[in-house]
Amino acid sequence: MPTYDSIDYFSDQSLVEDPYPYFDHLRSRCPVLPTANHGVVAVSGYDEASEIYLDSDTFSSCNSVIGPFATFPVPLEGDDVSEIIDRYRDQLPMNEHMVTMDPPMHTQERALIMRLLTPKHLKENEKFMWRLADRQIDEFIGDGHCEFIEAYSQPFAMLVVADVLGVPETDHQRFREFFGLSASPGEIGGGAQMGLNALGGLDDWFARYIEDRRRDPRDDVLTQLAIGKYPDGSTPEVTAVVRTATFLFAAGQETTARLLAVGLKYLCEYPELQDELRAHHERIPNFIEEALRIESPVKSDFRLARRSTNVAGVDIAAGTPVMLLNGAANRDPRHFECPDEFRLDRPNAKTHIAFGRGTHSCPGGPLARVEGRVSIARILDRMRDIRLSEEHHGPPSARHFEYEPTWVLRGLHKLYIEFIPAEGS
Ligand code: HEM
Repeated sequence: MPTYDSIDYFSDQSLVEDPYPYFDHLRSRCPVLPTANHGVVAVSGYDEASEIYLDSDTFSSCNSVIGPFATFPVPLEGDDVSEIIDRYRDQLPMNEHMVTMDPPMHTQERALIMRLLTPKHLKENEKFMWRLADRQIDEFIGDGHCEFIEAYSQPFAMLVVADVLGVPETDHQRFREFFGLSASPGEIGGGAQMGLNALGGLDDWFARYIEDRRRDPRDDVLTQLAIGKYPDGSTPEVTAVVRTATFLFAAGQETTARLLAVGLKYLCEYPELQDELRAHHERIPNFIEEALRIESPVKSDFRLARRSTNVAGVDIAAGTPVMLLNGAANRDPRHFECPDEFRLDRPNAKTHIAFGRGTHSCPGGPLARVEGRVSIARILDRMRDIRLSEEHHGPPSARHFEYEPTWVLRGLHKLYIEFIPAEGS
């Protein structure tokens, strides 16, 4: 039986259900800890993770998703491996997505996305969310029970991204049927397999949209995406635009779906929250922040040290993969009082780093927050006495849940709930 000092975070299933004691162990040894896990330095402290996120000069994002499984054809030797990273980075999985890019290329790609996520556009999108939330709830409200992730949170999160991209509502049903599968990166024991193949078909779909809008511009978001230029005035290839679009699904769907599920789980486990939030919708945003903090959907994120450096007194050699454990940093007792407690009124809940920090910090954060606020408001308005199904999750004294077997995401696999439809619902 491995101990926490020898356990392999990347292949050991036992850490999936509850990684938090392991994270606490790492932090208690040292918030920046060289481990036996594939040469990874694990960062479990809040301040230390924030410092690394903010230093994109020293820490490359080339391995941000693939972590220690980024391999180069030559050894990463010496005190500065920048040249090797830059020469071979296009051989790494996921290199075509902005999340693995460094400036200046990252700056260009990110500008394309930021054009979509403007406050004006998000306002329009919110109107769609209110309609969508009701439409999703209509599908199961009469049953008095559902498996929440499949019935609500996955289709909701997916169609919100579709709407951000300007996919016409008339295509949404086809989208749902076509893109029903989820794509979770970082499967336990899967090494470098990234599980994004489910997105392959979407590329063709979006390429058709983009080519169509370049030929025949309209007054819609897809046209803005299609004719948008890089900050230097050049026009991106169709494939680059398509990549941007499909990556939004990869980044925005599973993460938000898991956030909504965890919100529902806490509402069931602390039923007094239901009446309180029903009566005080203005407290829902902090509820969402606390859910993001306590069960950060992206539990681990990665960087590669370009140069030999030192963080919090610990030497990190050039070429070292650094694992930023958002799930641990957000439970760092030096920053969050009694971090394992869910506190609706936690004053600094919003300072969590569930969306990362710095140049790559999640551009979808504002969207995910609104998705959470709208969903919880409509669910509470339309359902009473929301409970966990004892048949599936056991009695209160012996609950059990299954989590997605990945080392990147923290997410419930299924969430079975029961409820009473509100009068007139
Ligand atoms: C609860 C939901 C979400 C969580 C927890 C989350 C978390 C994160 C984190 C931690 C990063 C930083 C990665 C890094 O620094 O290496 C990130 C990046 C990103 N996220 Fe999110 N995200 C969520 C929802 C969304 C949504 C809804 C969208 C868009 C529709 C989105 C789009 C992106 C994109 C495009 C990036 C890459 C940004 C860049 O590299 O500059 N995310 N997300």
